[in-house]
Amino acid sequence: MRSDLSKQQVPIMSALSAEPSGQFSIGGDLAVRRLGFGAMRITGDGIWGEPADPAEAKRTLRRVPELGIDFIDTADSYGPEVSERLIKEVLHPYKDLVIATKGGLTRPGPSQWIPNGRPEYLRQQVTSSLKRLGVARIDLWQLHRIDAAVPQSEQFEVVAAMQKEGLIRHAGLSQVSVAEIKAAQKVFKVATVQNLYNLADRSSEDVLDYCEAQGIGFIPWFPLAAGSLAKPGSVLDGISKRHGASPGQIALAWLLARSPVMLPIPGTGKVKHLEENVVGAGIKLSDADFKELSALSRKAANENV
Ligand SMILES: NC(=O)c1ccc[n+]([C@@H]2O[C@H](COP(=O)([O-])OP(=O)(O)OC[C@H]3O[C@@H](n4cnc5c(N)ncnc54)[C@H](OP(=O)(O)O)[C@@H]3O)[C@@H](O)[C@H]2O)c1
Repeated sequence: MRSDLSKQQVPIMSALSAEPSGQFSIGGDLAVRRLGFGAMRITGDGIWGEPADPAEAKRTLRRVPELGIDFIDTADSYGPEVSERLIKEVLHPYKDLVIATKGGLTRPGPSQWIPNGRPEYLRQQVTSSLKRLGVARIDLWQLHRIDAAVPQSEQFEVVAAMQKEGLIRHAGLSQVSVAEIKAAQKVFKVATVQNLYNLADRSSEDVLDYCEAQGIGFIPWFPLAAGSLAKPGSVLDGISKRHGASPGQIALAWLLARSPVMLPIPGTGKVKHLEENVVGAGIKLSDADFKELSALSRKAANENV
């Protein structure tokens, strides 16, 4: 009786861990589990101000390392400042946790994001993030957007300079084309790229393929299409029912199967959703499942679902 019970418990325990998602080595020397956590949703509406339920947001952050997640994505502009501050309040000193942050977007108000890539601004933001996160060096800092109003070379050069000075360990880019990655690679080693990508929006397919060929970590933002892929009634309903999983879990399992450089960072401010998403790391899709989902997602993308 006892042994039967413990046998039953093993899959449940292992399902609630990011461990089965496998590992990726950022920049070749910073290993993280491939399923991470996006910390944009621990802020208020419009990614502005304090979260509606601060206690639940803090419980969610506390649960992140308990679930074996060791990679957290944030940005100075989430709140602004709120996400980085809460991460430090709840998780500092960081034990086996990689906190990746971003800079280069200003926030005039809720849901408003304006790029500022002036070198002095990027440097000021890195200095502020270091203090807010309570670290001497940022493990991974990503340029949130290339600012079209500032020469690209100036933005890339300040990133390289901050790396050389030891303020940043690894550096990455966000929402970029293959040509932009190639231009940045002439100035600094691009460790990660963070672009919009999920089952229903595969417009960055060429960027993902380039990242895979170059060993660059690809961080798909909106991995759940901001929640719509996690809801019943999404294009994943049929296949997820067949697997006894939620549509969001299948969407994450598909991302993880799509490429070994894929590092999904589903975002939530709720423990229940965090736990539900982590289960996706343990779902192994068969080749037939993967092909069916890939075909489904191409159809969804074409129909703009
Ligand atoms: N580089 C960029 O430009 C950029 C842009 C956007 C986001 N990001 C990063 O990417 C991360 C992920 O993107 P995202 O948070 O916008 O989108 P997402 O992960 O696709 O979806 C998050 C949304 O889905 C809901 N959700 C999460 N898990 C759920 C579940 N199991 N069941 C039902 N609903 C669920 C969340 O609401 P609840 O809070 O209610 O769970 C939230 O509204 C962000 O947190 C951020 O770190 C980067």
